[in-house]
Amino acid sequence: MPEESRAVIIIFGGSGDLASRKLYPALFNLYRRGVLAEHFAVIGTARRPWTDDHYHEVVENAVAGDDVDRDQAKAFAQHFFYQSHDVTDADHYITLKNLAAKLDDQYVTGGNRIFYMAMAPDFFETIASHLKSEHLLTERGFNRLIIEKPFGHDYASAKELNDSLTATFDDDQIFRIDHYLGKEMIQNLLAFRFDNAIFEGVWNKDYIDNIQITLSEAVGVEERAGYYEKAGALRDMVQNHVMQVLSYLTMPKPKTFTANDILTAKDQVFAALKPYDLATAKENFVRAQYASAEVDGDQVLGYRQEEGVAADSQTATFVAGKIMLDMPQWEGVPVYIRTGKRLTRKSTQLTLTFEPVTSPLFNRETGSQPDSLTIYIEPSEGYSLQLNGKALGTGFNIEPDELRYRHDPEAAAAAPEAYERLINNVLEGDQTNFTHWSELSASWRFIDAIQAAWSQETEMPTYPAATMGPQAAFDLLARDGRQWFWQPRRIKLAD
Ligand SMILES: NC(=O)c1ccc[n+]([C@@H]2O[C@H](COP(=O)([O-])OP(=O)(O)OC[C@H]3O[C@@H](n4cnc5c(N)ncnc54)[C@H](OP(=O)(O)O)[C@@H]3O)[C@@H](O)[C@H]2O)c1
Repeated sequence: MPEESRAVIIIFGGSGDLASRKLYPALFNLYRRGVLAEHFAVIGTARRPWTDDHYHEVVENAVAGDDVDRDQAKAFAQHFFYQSHDVTDADHYITLKNLAAKLDDQYVTGGNRIFYMAMAPDFFETIASHLKSEHLLTERGFNRLIIEKPFGHDYASAKELNDSLTATFDDDQIFRIDHYLGKEMIQNLLAFRFDNAIFEGVWNKDYIDNIQITLSEAVGVEERAGYYEKAGALRDMVQNHVMQVLSYLTMPKPKTFTANDILTAKDQVFAALKPYDLATAKENFVRAQYASAEVDGDQVLGYRQEEGVAADSQTATFVAGKIMLDMPQWEGVPVYIRTGKRLTRKSTQLTLTFEPVTSPLFNRETGSQPDSLTIYIEPSEGYSLQLNGKALGTGFNIEPDELRYRHDPEAAAAAPEAYERLINNVLEGDQTNFTHWSELSASWRFIDAIQAAWSQETEMPTYPAATMGPQAAFDLLARDGRQWFWQPRRIKLAD
């Protein structure tokens, strides 16, 4: 059995979508695993006037499932308390503080507090300043803050937010969520890279020709237009998830497998991320919006026709770009990234293409291809290595062979979900899988430069729904004599 954690967990936004869909199931799984047992309580706060009984029903419904023991879910929900609270109102923090102190005594949680900001980011600074002014941080036990994305809208707003958080919390008490870092295959990148002799020595410019990162979604903007219109693909996906994946793929080997040494290694990548100027940003980054198209006999809406989207919206739903890292080990190796909505298929996958063999024994016409390694993050999890081999037969033709490994889907489904891992990390005080200010500040500066170049453009290019983006995204690689490794055919829209 794991060691039991003790804490009063206060969730701001306790009636929200994230809380119901992700946080309550994650906490329940930690309860089932025994990480949470007797000594924990959760206070959910939001404005709507719910009773504790109603809140218990919400929590029980959120964790319900075929494999869920209803009595266990009921017992779990008894640890939840609801407080109606407008986060802009100082008086409520006193009630909250008293309730937390009472639950601390009742559940013997040792003065440990976790504050989870699961609300719109406009409120993050207000909450942090009230936590300080109304003295909600305890003197004994730990105080930890979990903060959701987006962390700012640009460098200036991210810095302002960070300054206001660090006025209340020490940096090592702040856990900035990027749920990609909770994904099995992202964490696996470290094992894969640093525990395989066959890769360690070749993971550099001498052997790798280029790196490709694709985070593609098949769905459109859905009900999130209010948020997405202000963010777009660059801020929503590239600033955080893509940059984190990039750092995991390219960081030097950390000295030890500890949060500090991993941060130091990642920092070298973020320091090597030199912002483009206006001209080079335009040259190296492509944006576009999805346009209406007929897909499987249905007419799919274009982005500008979606509910809540301005008819003249300048928000990009697709980004492709080329990033060069200013690090000796990656000199001259382009990292091509792309992400977008309404693309051909949903998948996050990363491909490293190796240099062709320098003095080939066989001529190119035989069919030889550069080796490549693809890592599948989701929906399937695993990797494949494409190598050259001799084709069966009397001649001497070369053909690419593929070594494939996929996690067993059943075992993968039973493994902890990202939020479960991340909340577990917070309970343990482990910062490894969270983003740090040094990373955020560097990535925002990089993103701001691209955004500045785009803000000068008046034309918004489009791509038909269910394709892999505009022609310009293909030209970006073609001009370097390369192409996207993954060029999926559509299977079905919701895939
Ligand atoms: N949903 C997701 O899957 C997801 C994924 C990644 C990140 N996030 C991030 O998680 C955060 C929450 O997202 P969400 O989707 O859960 O939003 P949401 O469903 O709109 O929930 C917002 C919550 O804030 C409460 N609230 C709003 N104004 C308030 C006020 N003045 N005082 C107190 N409570 C207030 C709402 O309850 P009342 O109306 O009752 O006050 C509700 O509980 C955001 O930062 C979002 O970017 C969400």
